[in-house]
Amino acid sequence: MDSRSRHETDNTDKRYGIIAEHRRKVKSATQSDGWYRVQPSLARESQPLARPFIKWAGGKGQLIPELARRLPPRFRRYHEPFVGGGALFFHLFNHGLLRDGAVLSDYNSELMVCYEVIRDDVESLITALRWHHRHRLDPHYFLEVRNWDRQPDFAQRSKIERAARTIFLNRTCYNGLYRLNRKGQFNAPFGYYKNPMICDPENLRLVSAALRNVELYVGDFSDVLHRAKPGDLVYFDPPYVPMSATASFTHYTGQTFGPDDQRRLADVFAELCERGVYVMLSNSSTPLTRELYAARAVSSSVVYASRKINCDGSKRGHVEELIVCSYPVE
Ligand SMILES: C[S@@+](CC[C@H](N)C(=O)[O-])C[C@H]1O[C@@H](n2cnc3c(N)ncnc32)[C@H](O)[C@@H]1O
Repeated sequence: MDSRSRHETDNTDKRYGIIAEHRRKVKSATQSDGWYRVQPSLARESQPLARPFIKWAGGKGQLIPELARRLPPRFRRYHEPFVGGGALFFHLFNHGLLRDGAVLSDYNSELMVCYEVIRDDVESLITALRWHHRHRLDPHYFLEVRNWDRQPDFAQRSKIERAARTIFLNRTCYNGLYRLNRKGQFNAPFGYYKNPMICDPENLRLVSAALRNVELYVGDFSDVLHRAKPGDLVYFDPPYVPMSATASFTHYTGQTFGPDDQRRLADVFAELCERGVYVMLSNSSTPLTRELYAARAVSSSVVYASRKINCDGSKRGHVEELIVCSYPVE
């Protein structure tokens, strides 16, 4: 069942107030070429926008207009259990749609340390990043910092040190991606960028403000079953089912996210629906994902996104993404 919300009517918009107004604006901002640009009129007036502070494989920046037009008419708390760079979370915050708070979580503990430090002590993080900035062009310094997680005292390092390390490595490593080996050690090589931006104080302070009343957890996506209540919205953006045997990227946590995890996720999706929680999920459109959600989702659509299609990131191609919702989408 294809339920593209391009067919929404303005009457529907009026009934649902703020989210519908947001959806209408998203639609008009994207209708010329199908892609979305953040426009001042779309976000809260005269407020600078908080953006993801980290570049993350599978980041949803591009898919935001498609996700935004599929939001339920209203919802209570927002949950994002595969938060990564948090593109949709920041979008919702910038548009004033998180009035009842949010819960963000991910299995990647170093990533969640970054969120926690930015929320609780952003100024100390900025100071630590300014130190790394001085060494941003030095491959030996990069390797030294990368190797911290091979040393026994890594867990004793302060959260500020660990968060600054993750952001520094993310900004200086090859392809700018977080990649772990099977032992859970960061293993991306140095990126040789001309002048990488290590510290963006303005955005970090905006992110800190966005996270002020947000609950943060490390853990498996299924923990959302203990937290989500009827009327809440859960957005799932799991590691994708690979489109081909060579196209997988599931090394965010040192663990792979395989077909059994995808099935487990589909069961969690179904359980949340039964409890009256709104659920939206994006994934690659593959035979497995289409089969898993054929009976579980109320609305389902395939959209096209431009994505890196080879490992050095130099080639992009259009891939099919599946977006499914537990509620009707006009
Ligand atoms: C596709 S990315 C999310 C991207 C994010 N939506 C964004 O905009 O950047 C998938 C995320 O799932 C996390 N992850 C992998 N296995 C997990 C699990 N079992 N439970 C929770 N998170 C997991 C990874 O660490 C990664 O951050």
